[in-house]
Amino acid sequence: MATVHYMEHPLILHKLSLIRDKRTGVKEFREAVSELAMLIGYEATRDLPTREVEVETPIAVARTRVLAGKKLAIVPILRAGLGMVEGLLSLVPAAKVGHVGLFRDPDTLKPVEYYCKMPKDISEREVIIVDPMLATGGSAIACIDLLKRRGVKSLRMMNILAAPEGVAAVQAAHPDVELFIGACDEKLNDHGYIVPGLGDAGDRIFGTK
Ligand code: PRP
Ligand code: URA
Repeated sequence: MATVHYMEHPLILHKLSLIRDKRTGVKEFREAVSELAMLIGYEATRDLPTREVEVETPIAVARTRVLAGKKLAIVPILRAGLGMVEGLLSLVPAAKVGHVGLFRDPDTLKPVEYYCKMPKDISEREVIIVDPMLATGGSAIACIDLLKRRGVKSLRMMNILAAPEGVAAVQAAHPDVELFIGACDEKLNDHGYIVPGLGDAGDRIFGTK
């Protein structure tokens, strides 16, 4: 079973409180989501491989390390995942970005795919899926299925908030995918919303409600 990492860093806990608050407006919400993506991204990239290089400093030659191994791709699940791209790109600016458009049918809660555009070499990259919310897990599982069908072998996912049901569903369907999650809440309500959660992440990022 893949490991699930929950974040304990005080800055993450603080920003989670900010985005949960219903009084937080679009601008502050969007900024905090981007900052959370950067902070969770720091943990999600902790085990990336490095190799030794020699660098000439103004004083002497230093033996030091640079990133090695597979190149990265970031895959946001539209729409809300878009809010996490810039924050993560600030850590790994050379990463390519693929987009998957999925929305949850409000009646069935099943994901509906409406868009997909990936870098050509996606199958050779280490992929980080980003989506603020992991609720039933349907969208995450559909996105992972899609990427695996395209030959991606190395996948991890970052979410800001999750429900226990969604974490269990992704772990059961894709035990090889490591999860990096800001916090796991109590449960889902009858409409598939995370409780206490933060409401509809896409609406709060884009101001559509
Ligand atoms: C939200 C969220 C996830 C999905 C999570 O997107 O950003 O993609 O719901 O729910 P699940 O785990 O039950 O699949 P939504 O479908 O509301 O689309 P949006 O981002 O366009 O608002
Ligand atoms: N999607 C959201 O945006 N919020 C939830 O609580 C669940 C799914």
